[in-house]
Amino acid sequence: MLDKVADKARKSGGGAADRTEVPAIDVSGAREPGSNDRGSSGTRRETIFELKDVTVSYGGHPAIKGVSMEIAENEITALIGPSGCGKSTLIRCLNRMNDLIPIASVDGQCLYHGQDLYGPDVDPVEVRKRIGMVFQKPNPFPKPIRDNVAFGPRVLGLEDVDERVERALRRAALWDEVKDRLDENAYGMSGGQQQRLCIARAIAVDPDVILMDEPASALDPISTGKIEDLMLELKEEYSIVIVTHNMQQAARVSDRTAFLIVELSASEKERWGQLVEFDETEKIFTNPSDKRTEDYVTGKVG
Ligand SMILES: Nc1ncnc2c1ncn2[C@@H]1O[C@H](COP(=O)(O)OP(=O)(O)OP(=O)(O)O)[C@@H](O)[C@H]1O
Ligand SMILES: [Mg+2]
Repeated sequence: MLDKVADKARKSGGGAADRTEVPAIDVSGAREPGSNDRGSSGTRRETIFELKDVTVSYGGHPAIKGVSMEIAENEITALIGPSGCGKSTLIRCLNRMNDLIPIASVDGQCLYHGQDLYGPDVDPVEVRKRIGMVFQKPNPFPKPIRDNVAFGPRVLGLEDVDERVERALRRAALWDEVKDRLDENAYGMSGGQQQRLCIARAIAVDPDVILMDEPASALDPISTGKIEDLMLELKEEYSIVIVTHNMQQAARVSDRTAFLIVELSASEKERWGQLVEFDETEKIFTNPSDKRTEDYVTGKVG
């Protein structure tokens, strides 16, 4: 199935021709535009991920239970909730990063453009090419700035690597700061620059989705602002899912927000994360349906 290159047309220019070189997940099952009524602006958006009753366990102990949600394309979806409620576990389901944890198991269904991400003929490496990830701590390679961004395109044997590097650095709002030092080691950059470099590295292979697990939690307000501006710009082309502990950040950048909590068993021996509410961000922050969401977003608990 994965050797079929059934890429959907990109809205933006510049990538369409190159993208045929990237082996892609078959998205021929993607819905017709307008088949789903989504989006905080009232526009209709396609569903990119559909989670159905997803449970993730580590060593047999559930970390999240029964999560069902639909994530829309070209939106920013925020995952919020107290520490340990399973935000990282949930976001890792979306590009099969939990596969890398030997004791992790995933039950339920994760559909990506209608296709089962965990289907027997889906290659997790292909999945991660289409669905990139940026982590809390910037993790550049100890290599020149240029080589960090060129890494993915080179591994994939893509052409015009220098152009891709420049385009990715421009999109990541980093080009002007680094264009004269592309051959310097990335470790010499500031934390905020390193994080934007990691975003440039993620977008250099033209992914479909960018997952970000607390991408700005270690950054100062100026760098955080740059990352947030960047996300708002990138959502024109990509779908973004972000985990954040910063309520203002979720409110500022996201279109929809999912709130998770830690549930305790009656014996209090088992604890797991559960989705409480998933709705338009404005509603979650101003008029949530569930009292637990209200208490959390207003800072009464957490
Ligand atoms: N690699 C792992 N091995 C075993 N248990 C894990 C692993 N990763 C997470 N867990 C457990 O799964 C539960 C959810 O953890 P997770 O890291 O997803 O929460 P989180 O909401 O991202 O928390 P935080 O806000 O602190 O980052 C926790 O009980 C945690 O101990
Ligand atoms: Mg986490």
